[in-house]
Amino acid sequence: MAKKIIKRSWAEPFKIKVVEPIKMTTREYREKCAKEAGYNTFLLKSADVYIDLLTDSGTNAMSDYQWAGMMIGDEAYAGSRNFYYLWDNVKKYYGMPYFVPTHQGRAAEHLISKIMIKPGDYIPGNMYFTTTRLHQELAGGTFVDVIIDEAHIPQNKHPFKGNVDLQKLEDLIKKVGAKKIPYVSIAGPVNMAGGQPISMQNLKEVSKLCDKYGIKLWFDATRATENAYFIKVREKGYENKSIALILKEMCSYFDGLWVSAKKDLMVNIGGFLATRNKKVYEEARNMVVVYEGLHTYGGLAGRDMEAMARGIEEMVEFDNIKARVGQVEYCGKQLEKYGIPMVYPFGGHAIFLDAKKFLPHLRQDVFPAQALANEIYVDSGVRGMERGIVSAGRDPKTGQHRYPKLELVRLTFPRRVYTQAHIDVMVESIATVFQNRKQIKGLKMVYEPKYLRFFQARFSKL
Ligand code: F0G
Repeated sequence: MAKKIIKRSWAEPFKIKVVEPIKMTTREYREKCAKEAGYNTFLLKSADVYIDLLTDSGTNAMSDYQWAGMMIGDEAYAGSRNFYYLWDNVKKYYGMPYFVPTHQGRAAEHLISKIMIKPGDYIPGNMYFTTTRLHQELAGGTFVDVIIDEAHIPQNKHPFKGNVDLQKLEDLIKKVGAKKIPYVSIAGPVNMAGGQPISMQNLKEVSKLCDKYGIKLWFDATRATENAYFIKVREKGYENKSIALILKEMCSYFDGLWVSAKKDLMVNIGGFLATRNKKVYEEARNMVVVYEGLHTYGGLAGRDMEAMARGIEEMVEFDNIKARVGQVEYCGKQLEKYGIPMVYPFGGHAIFLDAKKFLPHLRQDVFPAQALANEIYVDSGVRGMERGIVSAGRDPKTGQHRYPKLELVRLTFPRRVYTQAHIDVMVESIATVFQNRKQIKGLKMVYEPKYLRFFQARFSKL
């Protein structure tokens, strides 16, 4: 008899040493919690959440190597040893000579927006990110989306939906003039598009176009190792290159970058700005003293910087990033078996449910993704996040809701935190909610804060 070929699976390249108990509650109790939270998953108490897929930001499990580093924090006000080690690793892995630490990503966005943008400027980018665009707007700029059209279509399987449409970018440059564009803002992968990567080829072309018009290119490198992973597995010519090499090549096309270290670097807090531009660096180094702290700690403890430096070394390990992206893919494949509508291809950090297809009976202005995130929480204590009309906010000029094409619920995976069994439980819950989807009603916004409303808005049931 011919031997059957037995499939060989992969598994995480780590074992669990410290655990934190989580508890399942009753549906009745969660209904009460959801109501008290104004049907906004950001306003739930963590203790009332069973599986927390709100974000991968600061929610990661650090390694024993990182925790060991926390014990050798040099907490000097100035010139901490950990700062210099972190700076060395930023130079080594991101290839940027200058570096300023910040307490998290948006603090670096604040600095770079204030330094580069003048009122009336335009900042083209491959889809908006909430905090990134807000800081650009607060500095007087207008964000212009120049991502390829495919990025706005959930079912489209383009392997690099984070790519820039070069024609859209050049048209904008010609329309407003290069002098009105302080920099092009590129994220890789693109969070709001579903964790979709930009290709190296496209990056090269964007860089060439920017050079042609003398425009700077800046990089939101918050999850850049996930982008590097997708380049390695999807783009010809990169299959044999290491994640570290690909990351460095990506960064080589930019004048500078900012990072929320709470993602790739697998720490609980931290961020930074790095650049090859000495003038920008000097301004950032000066400004960080006003908003964050001295330039050798930028709002962080020495121990946080040590954990970041060590996180950089771990984030580029192939097995680590493969397991991270592989877990997201596993989840997507399980959901697919139940016919759940999602964004394709599966992203690097999260699965995005397509709320427009999930709840076709709800108009976008009754917040279908917000309602869906809430139903999932009530069903099983799984917490996701709205990434649709609430997150998109209002147009600052007209005051009207922005109506994004993508109306999504994000189920985001903290790194090294949940097991395959957690995912199975979560998938079964979503499949149950899908079965009962026709009963789901829309929401009405009853409290709306001025900035980044999705964090604190409150809703009532219609
Ligand atoms: N850029 C990207 C691509 C991000 O995803 C985030 C944060 C930031 C910048 C801002 O960094 O939170 O450290 O200030 N994203 C989190 C999320 C909040 O859940 O996607 P931060």
